[in-house]
Amino acid sequence: MESGFSRIAALAGGHAEARAIQVALRIGVFEILSGGPHTAEEVAAHIGCQARATMLLANALCALGLLRKDRATYSLDEAARRYLTRASPEYLGDMILFDAGLWEVWGRLEDSLRSGAPARVPDMFQSSREETARFIRAMDSLVRARGDAVWTAQHLELGFARTIVDLGGGPGTYLLEFLRRWPNARGAIYDLPATLTIAREILTSRAPELMDRIELREVDYRKDRLPGPVDVLFLSNIIHSEDETTNGALMRQCFEGLAPGGLLVVKDHIMDDALVEPAAGAVFALYLLLTTHGRDYSFTEVAAWMRSAGFAEIKLQPLPDPPFSSSLIIARRP
Ligand SMILES: C[S@@+](CC[C@H](N)C(=O)[O-])C[C@H]1O[C@@H](n2cnc3c(N)ncnc32)[C@H](O)[C@@H]1O
Repeated sequence: MESGFSRIAALAGGHAEARAIQVALRIGVFEILSGGPHTAEEVAAHIGCQARATMLLANALCALGLLRKDRATYSLDEAARRYLTRASPEYLGDMILFDAGLWEVWGRLEDSLRSGAPARVPDMFQSSREETARFIRAMDSLVRARGDAVWTAQHLELGFARTIVDLGGGPGTYLLEFLRRWPNARGAIYDLPATLTIAREILTSRAPELMDRIELREVDYRKDRLPGPVDVLFLSNIIHSEDETTNGALMRQCFEGLAPGGLLVVKDHIMDDALVEPAAGAVFALYLLLTTHGRDYSFTEVAAWMRSAGFAEIKLQPLPDPPFSSSLIIARRP
């Protein structure tokens, strides 16, 4: 990695690029251009912005490789069409809009560093329907755009399972791929009530043919015993939102909730022992500081919780990077 001035200046000024993309997405620049090339004046008229200012934004988006400019006309670059327009199955926009909504929270990073406490109530975005929808649609958008669920379903061997539970499954993006690959299995999402409302909307519109194989069940894994026993418990991006004590208890809960021979699969940023690699996980840990009581954990830490809960055959399987930055930890209840 280039180690001098350019790298540090680009990293430290990254908020300008991030904000340009977030705002362009929010005000609809990419949607307008998905219909064909336009001048800055035409785009400005569509989105209700000032023409000269819109030209400056469009030029910046050209410089960032998201738009192309031919004389005074702007059009979408292929990557922008693929990831930034709603009609695309790989639309990443819901994740970008969620990040945009956390702008003020990042402004309080110094407070969190001084206090060690989150900068907002760590409620997993459950307190208003609008926030829950933005959060859950963001998870769905990220996983679909990057392809984690398809990769995971292709590489996990779940042919033995009759019951697969996506614990904290959110939008159910992973569960859908598991049920598509394993037609004899039934699935469930155990999650909080506000999340389940959004999950039902997403699943019924995306995969109505699978709804009779999916149970949506209100379970708060911090308080409730996990209904079971089931054959597979899948936890994606769950442990990173919880502290060490809660995760130790959660692994014991998972052990109790599995049938003998059942599989626990944890998917997350799994860090090296120094907690600095993968780099994406080390940076993401700051978002976790701001919004949860968690952080990203190492394989050594997670394996210790699993072993002390009674699990055996604990294995680490990293996903290939790029584009992925997370790993699976797979363990069996003897
Ligand atoms: C970061 S999202 C991950 C969603 C999905 N597993 C994924 O990887 O895309 C965390 C999920 O855990 C759920 N969750 C958080 N706390 C929970 C709790 N105490 N009990 C059950 N689900 C919880 C949230 O509602 C949300 O769906």
